[in-house]
Amino acid sequence: MKPFYVTTPIYYVNDLPHIGHIYSTVACDVAARFHRLIGDPTRFLTGTDEHGQNIEKAAAAQGVTPIALADRVVARYHDLWKRFEISHDDFIRTTEPRHLAGVEALIARIEKAGDLYVARHEGWYCSSCEAFYTEKELDAEHRCPVHGSPCSWESEENVFFRLSRYAQPLLDLYESRPGFIRPETRRAEMISFVRAGLNDLSVSRSKVQWGIPFPGHPGHVVYVWLDALANYVTALGLGSGDDRLYREFWEAADGRRVHLIGKDILRFHSVYWPAFLMSAGLPLPTTVWAHGWWLRDEKKMSKSVGNVVRPDALVARFGPDALRYFLLREMTFGQDASFSDEAFLTRYNADLANDLGNTVSRIAALCRQSFGATPDQVCDDNEVRAAYLARRPEWEAAMEDFAFNRALDAVWRFLTEVNGYVVAREPWKVRKEEGSSPRLHRILAAATEGARLIGVLLSPFVPGTARRICEIFGLPPADPRRADLEWGRLPISRPIGEFAPLFPRVDAAEYFSAKEGSMTEKTTEGSSLVSPVEATQAVAPSDSQIGIEEFQRVRLATARVLAAERVPKSNKLVKLQIDLGAEQRQVVAGIGKRYEPESLVGRNVVVVANLKPARLMGVESNGMVLAATVGETGEPVLLDVPAEVPPGSRVK
Ligand code: MSP
Repeated sequence: MKPFYVTTPIYYVNDLPHIGHIYSTVACDVAARFHRLIGDPTRFLTGTDEHGQNIEKAAAAQGVTPIALADRVVARYHDLWKRFEISHDDFIRTTEPRHLAGVEALIARIEKAGDLYVARHEGWYCSSCEAFYTEKELDAEHRCPVHGSPCSWESEENVFFRLSRYAQPLLDLYESRPGFIRPETRRAEMISFVRAGLNDLSVSRSKVQWGIPFPGHPGHVVYVWLDALANYVTALGLGSGDDRLYREFWEAADGRRVHLIGKDILRFHSVYWPAFLMSAGLPLPTTVWAHGWWLRDEKKMSKSVGNVVRPDALVARFGPDALRYFLLREMTFGQDASFSDEAFLTRYNADLANDLGNTVSRIAALCRQSFGATPDQVCDDNEVRAAYLARRPEWEAAMEDFAFNRALDAVWRFLTEVNGYVVAREPWKVRKEEGSSPRLHRILAAATEGARLIGVLLSPFVPGTARRICEIFGLPPADPRRADLEWGRLPISRPIGEFAPLFPRVDAAEYFSAKEGSMTEKTTEGSSLVSPVEATQAVAPSDSQIGIEEFQRVRLATARVLAAERVPKSNKLVKLQIDLGAEQRQVVAGIGKRYEPESLVGRNVVVVANLKPARLMGVESNGMVLAATVGETGEPVLLDVPAEVPPGSRVK
């Protein structure tokens, strides 16, 4: 049990939150919830960055004072974090007196180290970054490398920080602690940035009024980045009378202090911030983790283009857990990812409604129908336990490493294994043949314990859903604890009542046609939402390679044909009723030219089980039967599945 301190960037109050901000915050929340779950003393900080020229300008443009603007936006953040169940322990605003006191204490230490001096400062300045750039970093038009907007030539007398002194200590730091900057590619970028040489940094501004007065330099305010970065320690009580939290979470020798940030602000966190701390003689963070950028349909989100993905409509329609899950599943931590309506809905229906929701519902329904309760025993000798013992360390290692999508992959593999167990043991048949026999209790005990553990493993990601899984199985709704991760803690014979599906399926075609699917604040030309049907038609078969992940999104399963008849007025289409293990479905297949419907009954086939429903000649089809296409006419020949393979077995 080691102290774990995790922080989000503090957000500017001149914009409203979008999925980029939500991602940073949810990722920290997942990390914090995981560390609490495994018993680490944990502290999670977020907050707002309220000073500086940009806020001053934005407030003036709206005819309000900067603090009035900040109060308004901060209220939005508080609402949103509540809605997303963000479990922060503290929320710091840089306009709070406690922060001011801490910044003064930090500057006093830097001053004492002899690292501040006054000089005239001239250079190219980007007002959006609130940072100076060297000639080398800009293009011929002196445009900012981050914003692309023109930088202006600024000249003023400033207080300087002797950053140049810290180039070698920083390089030594990166060398001796390879985990200080992650991922590795970002670390390499920062090493070459520092190797190119560091100029001293101007840390006061005389042309900006909205900031913390610079101690000992009337007319100057503290540079907004020095002000903002200090939040990570001022929120722990540095400079206040009470530094208990500071000692516990910033000074503990075995503690971990992780700043999770977007790649855009890595230089501030991995160069300036450790240099300030070194100068002040304070401990450094253990890791600065830079995540990638969220794009919208592969393009940069921008207010002027109007393609910024705001959370409101999504959360209202799908609930916070669906977006939390999507963001963490879709982005490989450290790399960029793209948000599209289509990808969101696919993940919602395939992963949440189908895989997770149906598995839990099926197991709960089987228990309810068989015993009206959870099984009367805990079962230790089964494949579900073995699968859990293999998956849990994979999940835990990935969680420790902020590899959230890998952790989710491990949970999904376990989900598939639990499902496979249920399908193979056919509890519905056992019930029919033996009633509520001890064997049925044993089978369902293993499956139910699997479902409970899926809930615990997912609790950092989808806390609301994890609670609902507990409720369904009559478990106490307490916060998950480390002990809950152990196999065999399922309470026995707990009544199971009626329950609603965890994630009701959403019909994509209806959803898009209802125009409800505008997930961006404003849909502009060129970013109109493509209906999934059009999207499918637009995709030509491709010989290009796909990743295993992409393939795994297709759920192939075996099914047994229970009934078959021709679709009226069609010589090609056959309507099939199929048994998919725990459920029956209707699918329509274009195989009528080769097969007589009667010959199909009893036959085992392979189907795509998570295909969006479609109507073929007015008949609903919930899946697709696979066939080889043979000869010039592409005649469909069904794939044979040996009789011993039970219906509903996953094909992969
Ligand atoms: N106030 C500074 C941070 C100071 S930390 C001491 C700031 N604020 S911000 O509101 O502009 O952005 C904060 C963070 O939001 C980014 O670093 C990043 O973590 C997140 N994101 C903003 N847009 C993003 C995307 N499009 N995609 C992913 N995250 C991005 O910078």
